[in-house]
Amino acid sequence: DTNFFESIERIEIIACGTSKHAAMVGSFLLEQFSGIPTHVFYASEFRYSPPPLAPNTLTIGVTQSGETADTLAALNMEIKRREQFGNDLYKPNVIAITNRVESSIGRQISNIIDVSAGIEIGVAATKTFFGQLLSFYGLAITFAQIKKSKSTQEINKLISELTSLPPILKELVNTHNAISEKLAHDFSDIKDVIFLGRGINYPIALEGALKLKEISYIHAAGYPAGEMKHGPIALLDKKVPVISIATPGKVFEKVISNAQEAKARDAFLIGISPKSDGTEIFDYLMPLPVIDEWLSPLASIIPLQLLSYHIAAHRGLDVDQPRNL
Ligand code: BG6
Repeated sequence: DTNFFESIERIEIIACGTSKHAAMVGSFLLEQFSGIPTHVFYASEFRYSPPPLAPNTLTIGVTQSGETADTLAALNMEIKRREQFGNDLYKPNVIAITNRVESSIGRQISNIIDVSAGIEIGVAATKTFFGQLLSFYGLAITFAQIKKSKSTQEINKLISELTSLPPILKELVNTHNAISEKLAHDFSDIKDVIFLGRGINYPIALEGALKLKEISYIHAAGYPAGEMKHGPIALLDKKVPVISIATPGKVFEKVISNAQEAKARDAFLIGISPKSDGTEIFDYLMPLPVIDEWLSPLASIIPLQLLSYHIAAHRGLDVDQPRNL
């Protein structure tokens, strides 16, 4: 319904964990590509401190399982407070992105984007994270078309590059499966890992760190690369690997210069990047194909997921059933 999309002036997204990271990539796209002010909230925070009500707002709930209590409660609370407000401009407009249509969220929300990635066996979501990203690309493209935030040419270029990705990413999975397995040997005794990314890849740094923590119980933290010098840099020495996502585009040089700052502290630098001028700085390069910067998270997440998987497997851990989750 074009009218529905046309009327939306701002977006709030509610999610937890990995779904929150997909939502952050989504928020970047919805703001920067589709031109709509967007905020992402941890569901557990939103429940107790929701933002002041704003008109013509789309609320998006993101949950792989469709059952996360905080996400359901935050979404229901938002629907209720908008209904109670009783002003048509403030009425709830809700979409849920889930991989389980037969779930609580699927029963409660009528506008569903079905991620359709098949059952996620592992507690630590991987393929459904990718599917959530694709859902956001779909939404961002639709909004961009309706709001005319980008030219038809630019939008069509993105769509055509997106549709050409599957064989490229398939090859990437195969290559990095082998690379990560080898690298995992050197990583099994590591205590801390820092992940850096900027712009659209900042949430991917967060997700890389979360995956490593969840399944291999190694302490990891993700930062926007430009923030590293404002504190986290104090952690660095040669025992702390720094994994830096440096994809071609607007912030490439910036990320490389942040990597240089880490190198000056003797950190072991791993680059997630296509090989190019500037990437010699990395002690180890996990090579990416060159793809459009807007689409780069779809590639950069793959080596990070595989690396976590192989480190956990190398440590003899059950990757599907992490403790405490
Ligand atoms: C946590 C899981 O409990 O829930 C995370 O450990 C997951 O891996 C988070 O990302 C959110 O889950 P969901 O199903 O709402 O996306």
